[in-house]
Amino acid sequence: MLTAMGSPALDSLDVIGPDTYAANGYPHAAWRRLRREAPIHWFDLPDGVGFWAVTRHADISAISKQPARFVNGPRLAIFEAGGPVHGERTFVRQLLNMDPPEHGRYRRVATSWFTPRAIERRRAGAEQIARELLDAMQGDGSELEADFVAELAAPLTLSILAEMLGVPRGDWPLLFHWTNRIAGSSDPEFQQAGPDAEDNVVQARGEVFRYFAELVERKRTTPADDMVSVLAHAQVNGRPIPPLELLSYFLLLVVAGNETTRNAASGGLLALIEHPDELAKLRAQPELVDSAAEEIVRWTTPVIQFCRTAVKDVELHGRRVRAGDALCLFYPSANRDEEVFDAPDEFRIDRDPNPHLGFGIGEHFCLGANLARLELRVILRELARRLVSVELAAPVERMRSSFLGGVKRMPIRYRLQSGPSGGP
Ligand code: HEM
Repeated sequence: MLTAMGSPALDSLDVIGPDTYAANGYPHAAWRRLRREAPIHWFDLPDGVGFWAVTRHADISAISKQPARFVNGPRLAIFEAGGPVHGERTFVRQLLNMDPPEHGRYRRVATSWFTPRAIERRRAGAEQIARELLDAMQGDGSELEADFVAELAAPLTLSILAEMLGVPRGDWPLLFHWTNRIAGSSDPEFQQAGPDAEDNVVQARGEVFRYFAELVERKRTTPADDMVSVLAHAQVNGRPIPPLELLSYFLLLVVAGNETTRNAASGGLLALIEHPDELAKLRAQPELVDSAAEEIVRWTTPVIQFCRTAVKDVELHGRRVRAGDALCLFYPSANRDEEVFDAPDEFRIDRDPNPHLGFGIGEHFCLGANLARLELRVILRELARRLVSVELAAPVERMRSSFLGGVKRMPIRYRLQSGPSGGP
């Protein structure tokens, strides 16, 4: 259906179909129109439940900062019918679907592990892992081809998180396998339990829970300096965390910690390949790694959406939002909002200021933001030092998801050196 101006009617825009994302990437043109013409816009879904698309930076910030009026509890995100987390079978209580005051109590038991100072202590380990992975990729220094996701982005983020959790090294591939199956539950490649995404989540989650239940038992008898030991002994409301909530905590950390930074790293290198001037700038001025990491999170915005549910009827931009309605916060749209960003469709590694919402804002602001930043900075610094040349060897393959902007494979042709000085 077309409007009088010849453009498609707003209702026919597809901002939520996973096939659209797999085929075309993020629907930036649709979001641009929504920001301009209907910043709060209702979309019906085939299963009868619809949602308000919230696309402006200011509205997403305002809604996120009012956790009493717009709650997380009932609906985590918008999924197609039969999608993950859609039905009751996939519901687990974890930070992202808790609300104040309970949310703060559960969040506080983990925050000391994610402060800037605590994360800074991980730097040497992260650099070591990055160097080892790049050494393995470098070969004899000749031109080679590899999948950047499999060789660097995925193992780096996974190893750092697994180490923090206290998962023994031999079990790290298991974590990788499970998180792919949960985050990619709508993608045929990761579906083991048949085409129903919910079945896949339930099955993979059961395996994660069994694994961590055993690990918790071991850490209760022989605690170590790791997060599983700390959470296994933590108290909320004067009592140990109940078993299901404890296991869900680990599940959240594993999925949120792996499926996001990995995609930011892959999408970040892709952006640098597509903007060779910015790559040259990074090589010439490695001190730009901090702002480059922020710009990569803005540019790639790996988490596409989370939902809030209105507690009472409220009017937003002249639209009547009813109590119980879902508001879908589209972070990549906020991150291209022309009211906030100068030339939002340009990728600039020295962008400053950069108030992006890639990590969300307010009550649920990403717990792992400092860790993600560290990982991205380490990867960027090493790449800036060692990449002699890089280009895509084949098109990027994207995950079928309108929740996480997943890069499944990114084949690159590249040459790496040991470092400009020839040192390690
Ligand atoms: C580039 C990487 C990452 C991105 C883009 C990202 C993005 C986000 C976003 C958008 C939220 C929700 C914010 C909101 O509702 O306002 C979130 C929450 C969260 N993230 Fe991240 N994240 C990343 C990395 C990580 C890492 C490495 C970890 C941990 C190991 C992590 C753990 C969490 C947790 C536990 C929450 C829930 C916080 C809460 O509900 O209080 N994230 N993240």
